[in-house]
Amino acid sequence: MKDFEGLGAVVTGGGSGIGLAVARTLAQRGAAVACLDLDPSEAPGTGLRADVTDEESVNAAVAAAARQLGRIDVLVNNAGIGAQGTVETNSYDEWQRVFDVNVLGLVRATRACLPHLRRSPAAAIVNTCSIAATAGLPQRALYSASKGAVQSLTLAMAADHVGEGVRVNCVNPGTVDTPWVRRLLAAADDPEAELSALEKRQPTGRLVSAEEVAAAVAFLASPSAGATTGTVLAVDGGMHGL
Ligand code: NAI
Repeated sequence: MKDFEGLGAVVTGGGSGIGLAVARTLAQRGAAVACLDLDPSEAPGTGLRADVTDEESVNAAVAAAARQLGRIDVLVNNAGIGAQGTVETNSYDEWQRVFDVNVLGLVRATRACLPHLRRSPAAAIVNTCSIAATAGLPQRALYSASKGAVQSLTLAMAADHVGEGVRVNCVNPGTVDTPWVRRLLAAADDPEAELSALEKRQPTGRLVSAEEVAAAVAFLASPSAGATTGTVLAVDGGMHGL
């Protein structure tokens, strides 16, 4: 299927995990892809070193992406970081850092891309949110709050930009087998027991694959989702229904 032929896509955090799978999927389906990442060395398409916490860096990378691709039709706001802790235990520096990446990073990339998206006949933004936005998971207060903001922003941005022909949706993955989760497992006291607990938390009994999230992102970004905006698509092995 070459449903992205002729379209340009920017993926933040496209150097690893979910973003890398999204970039590969969009490229396979015909898109010209630019990946913005702290480390774009593994990214397919045009890899651009950028830090979503730095407005100048984002603006420069998006301008370079627009030059390289000739156009930007799709923005996938995917760069994100995690944090474990309760409302008491994360430091204020951690609160600011996670919001700066997960929430303001999305705002910076969106602001930089909107002038290009408005010119596209097939404009779409897809945000990588999380089941943590709605599930009430223990030891994830800060991360959940940041993803709650991403979900709210998705709905608000969809309302603000629908009249300009820009669709905005998000995916809410459960636990996805990515380098991030593998790092968390490696740091656990008993990695095998931790993996088994994460698998059991999802009714399907296994982790979600990055490719499964990428397929959902690609659907929402694609012209065939032209009537879909302001939606939250769970890719969580059934966890949201619990
Ligand atoms: P990952 O750690 O494998 O990849 C994240 C990528 O984002 C990395 O390449 C990293 O360099 C980049 N990045 C981080 N901070 C950045 C910054 N300031 N500027 C530019 N790039 C930056 O993580 P993964 O698992 O692929 O996560 C991607 C997204 O998916 C995140 O937003 C995360 O919150 C979300 N997510 C992940 C889940 C999981 O279980 N892995 C579940 C639900 C959501």
